[in-house]
Amino acid sequence: METSDWPRTYDHAAENYLDIRERVAPFCLDEVVSELRLEPGDRVLDIACGPGGVALRAAQQVGDGAVIGCDISEQMLRLARLRAEELDVANVTFEVADMNRLPYEPGTFDAVACSLGIFFAEDITAAFSSAWSLVKPGGRLAVATIARNMFAPVSNVFLDHAQAHLPDLAVDLPWWRTGDLFELRNLVRAAGLPDARVTHRDYQTRLLALSDWWQFILGSGFRNVALRMDEAALVLVRTEVEEWLRANTIDSLATGINYVTCTRPDDH
Ligand SMILES: C[S@@+](CC[C@H](N)C(=O)[O-])C[C@H]1O[C@@H](n2cnc3c(N)ncnc32)[C@H](O)[C@@H]1O
Repeated sequence: METSDWPRTYDHAAENYLDIRERVAPFCLDEVVSELRLEPGDRVLDIACGPGGVALRAAQQVGDGAVIGCDISEQMLRLARLRAEELDVANVTFEVADMNRLPYEPGTFDAVACSLGIFFAEDITAAFSSAWSLVKPGGRLAVATIARNMFAPVSNVFLDHAQAHLPDLAVDLPWWRTGDLFELRNLVRAAGLPDARVTHRDYQTRLLALSDWWQFILGSGFRNVALRMDEAALVLVRTEVEEWLRANTIDSLATGINYVTCTRPDDH
């Protein structure tokens, strides 16, 4: 997939994103913020911020500090700004920036976060190095990635049926590149992060109804597959997947998360 497809995918996914985000491993946003160990006055960057789950929580903790949330999807940023207004949070700015070319000065943030986005980088090792380079001495980096089993078993069943109808469907699922702890540790090591902690937490998200699985496709990166299918194929695939879910009595989806956390040693 062209890198340029991701803004389009997430501009569409934005309309369903908030409905599912708090249900996909609901602890994840709080855990990322907690790993940042924020203090009043801190300057924070949230890379691939989406609708601002981490940035807004961080802004509420840093008092007279400042938070920047950056993303490539205008629709996600629009949602983030709306939520900041609703919550009356003034110390946060949301701006367009591509994580492949971040426009920030090295060593200028007390805390840098990237929740469920780093796998979209053209070069993930370079993205880890670049995020790490922005952290001041004594500062913290916290990254969350999607575990390999995200939305299992429905993810594989959906892809299988989608490809049966569209044999030429080329599917790029970049989040699988950081889905396994072993691979993630290799990437982090190659990026030169010292003493990084790489951990995993599993979770099952209950389906509210059989048709609920479709919300997770529409609100996530899997939307890029749905965007390539015409209406007739989508209806068929949805029916087939629902039949499969019923036959296999599936009532929940895996939504596991991997974490990478690292603290830059102080100068003294
Ligand atoms: C799964 S969402 C995660 C959003 C948010 N951080 C969260 O945890 O809810 C992935 C986000 O990555 C953004 N993204 C994709 N490619 C990007 C890039 N090259 N630079 C910055 N953001 C990007 C998407 O627009 C989307 O908002």
